[in-house]
Amino acid sequence: MNKASEEHLGMRISGWGVALPERIVTNDELSQTLDTSNEWILERSGIAERRIGGSTGSLAVEAGKLALKSAGVGPETIDLLIIATTTPDDQIPATSSKVQHELGLSCGAMDINAACSGFVYSLVTGCGFLKAGCNRVLVIGAETLSRFTNWEDRSTAILFGDGAGAVVIEPSDAGGKLLGWDLSSSGELRDILHAVIGGTLYMAGSEVFRKAVIAMTESGKSAIAKAGVSPEEISLVIPHQANIRIIETSMKKLGIPLERAVWVGDKTANTSAASIPIALGHALDNNQVAANDLILLVGFGAGMTAASAVIQWGEINE
Ligand code: ACO
Repeated sequence: MNKASEEHLGMRISGWGVALPERIVTNDELSQTLDTSNEWILERSGIAERRIGGSTGSLAVEAGKLALKSAGVGPETIDLLIIATTTPDDQIPATSSKVQHELGLSCGAMDINAACSGFVYSLVTGCGFLKAGCNRVLVIGAETLSRFTNWEDRSTAILFGDGAGAVVIEPSDAGGKLLGWDLSSSGELRDILHAVIGGTLYMAGSEVFRKAVIAMTESGKSAIAKAGVSPEEISLVIPHQANIRIIETSMKKLGIPLERAVWVGDKTANTSAASIPIALGHALDNNQVAANDLILLVGFGAGMTAASAVIQWGEINE
């Protein structure tokens, strides 16, 4: 049992921001170069379009700026920058180095690669740093999966997109809490979804689908149990935006009505580590979160990794 369940960490998300490239690529556009159709893609994945463009660093900077602005704080107040990405701009150094410089931060900076689970891994890590004494941590999920996609492979090219989402987290005694979390990895499954250095993404689609449902369900259930709450009490689920069918099946298995899951993947496709902060930002911008709500963030991805966090939202105008 992890510690969050024994002593709940008082924390809040005080700011957030989302950055998406301007260029929209629809399913119809993909159908011009691939043997596929809008109907097939929509029915099998729920994806209608994706955004393509930019670099991981530039999208992270844009989302990070918006998150700082929304938190109403300057770069000098950030004690740590964590970037979740599986598509760094360079092999060396970490993308966070560039982002730290361009945001004008003077704190430590690091990347975390846990594929599509990376944002929740980074959020939980950031919470650990709050507990260790940081006053404010900027956590960004940013990806340019289009650079690692084989655009001639219809089984993968339809699924991915680019984007970034960022949050500012800080300690709080106004009701906001990290109630429970779960991080896992099943390294024996690493070959079913991978890209070698310099290569493009390989995915055993239907096997990944089956394992993704298991990972999302088990990880979500584990974080809910560690939080000491019941699935019915979860007001909103922010799942990794990979495929609406994975979300539908997993929500059933989690015992949470599908209407409580946020789905923006129709417009963004799968943006890996960026997908959860993008969906969270969308929910917050649309006032889908109220004081004392319990939110489940649940990610799964290559590795295969999975990561979940149950957050109690605090007072809205803290
Ligand atoms: N258009 C038309 N036909 C296609 C396409 C396409 N884009 N892609 C595959 N097909 C064909 C296949 O060739 C196959 O044809 P065959 O029966 O003649 O061999 C048929 O459609 C069925 O293929 P399946 O792979 O079995 O289709 P499935 O229903 O599994 O859907 C999909 C494919 C959408 C990729 C699904 O398996 C899936 O979503 N898997 C999980 C993907 C995912 O979420 N990955 C990321 C999670 S982790 C992370 O985010 C990094």
